[in-house]
Amino acid sequence: MTETVASVDLDKIISLCKRRGFLFQSSEIYGGIASTWDYGPLGAELKRNVKDAWWKTMVWGRDDMVGLDSAVIMNPDVWRASGHVDAFSDPLVECKLCHQRWREDQLEEHKCPDCGGELTDTRLFNTMFKTFMGPVEESASVVYLRPETAQGIFVNFNNVLNATRKKLPFGIAQIGKAFRNEITTGSFIYRTREFEMMEIEYFVRPGEDEEWHRRWIGESMRWYTDLGIDGERLRVRPHDSEELSHYSKATSDVEYHFPWGWGEIQGIANRTDYDLKAHSDASGESLAYFDAGSGERIVPYVIEPSAGVDRAVMAFLVDAYTEEEAPKASGGTGQRAVLKLHPALAPVKVSVLPLSRNERLVPLARKVYAEVRESRLVQGYVQYDDAQSIGRRYRRQDEIGTPLCVTVDFDSLDDNAVTIRERDSMAQERVPIAGLSQVLATRLEA
Ligand code: GAP
Repeated sequence: MTETVASVDLDKIISLCKRRGFLFQSSEIYGGIASTWDYGPLGAELKRNVKDAWWKTMVWGRDDMVGLDSAVIMNPDVWRASGHVDAFSDPLVECKLCHQRWREDQLEEHKCPDCGGELTDTRLFNTMFKTFMGPVEESASVVYLRPETAQGIFVNFNNVLNATRKKLPFGIAQIGKAFRNEITTGSFIYRTREFEMMEIEYFVRPGEDEEWHRRWIGESMRWYTDLGIDGERLRVRPHDSEELSHYSKATSDVEYHFPWGWGEIQGIANRTDYDLKAHSDASGESLAYFDAGSGERIVPYVIEPSAGVDRAVMAFLVDAYTEEEAPKASGGTGQRAVLKLHPALAPVKVSVLPLSRNERLVPLARKVYAEVRESRLVQGYVQYDDAQSIGRRYRRQDEIGTPLCVTVDFDSLDDNAVTIRERDSMAQERVPIAGLSQVLATRLEA
């Protein structure tokens, strides 16, 4: 990361997210609940677009991948066999003075960062959420909310193989919620207790795992940069041996340079045959691949690219947020805030704006809006925006990252044409209403 990459103020992004309806504090009218967020109308679009972009590249874009959508609550034996019941723990310490709890491995000194008080001895705290299944609250009915989607993939290995007849190497992809009772949370949606993951378990022949690990690190980085993330704000950081998870032979994190510093947005682990073997041993059902060529049964090694949806959303928001000088309608220049999101991610693809609410303009503007929306050529959310002056509406659309605005003005009544305004360059072009949807779709895909 070079010194020239300016840091964005996180508070400005949080304020924009609330004001424009990307993210709201969960249960806000009851005072909220710690580090829990709801995606508002624009956030829901952005998050959906991030997941769709990932699925399109990782599943539809490849011939060696299939999808899965497994349950959040699984047989608790899954978590015993996977090692999570014994080993999915963080080191917890508590301040003897103010009773605040901390993750010991995240502290710089062995004292309370809030009040400087003495800390208790470290104890391991299992971060899996527990709940009860059925009407009886007793230990026999304890189940866990999954802390990763990966185990749903491993335990379905035979089912997927039998249903799809995939040959090694191949992968199973899944997007879904995960839950971790984190000791400390924070930095907006960066570390929460409920979040979403986009995970792949990629099954390879033992011996080919290191090469595939390298490849998946490259593929993972490319996904972010293809969607517009500045390569200078991304880096790959290999874990040192003490940091490795209980199942991993090697892990590298993709990190993004957030306003507070580098933070993990994705991990790419070499999980070896740890999970398939553990579930074979515990369940008694062999999770192996039959190699018709050699007649051998192989327990594949697994490469696992595992990305956080919410962390990706946050990285895309931070990376896209730009403040720059721009000409004002009233003359001179002023500052504008722009979310320079990739069109595939932008929550609103096109906004149709009548120059004013004049009664002669509105019917045509509404007709243009309906045609663009109903043509289905523009893939995504199309909006009609007529509140406030045209200058303010352009600024609002810039701030939410709308790549294209279509303005219907008085000339449109005579020449049956409209103006397309491009978000980043602010360049304007007159185009006929006939064929407008196709022009917009082509521009968004360019
Ligand atoms: N199955 C592998 C696995 O769970 P992980 O590194 O623990 O690996 C994968 O999690 C990704 O999930 C992380 O890179 C991060 O993007 C996201 N993630 C993990 N914990 C999170 C949390 N508390 N809040 C938001 N995202 C989180």
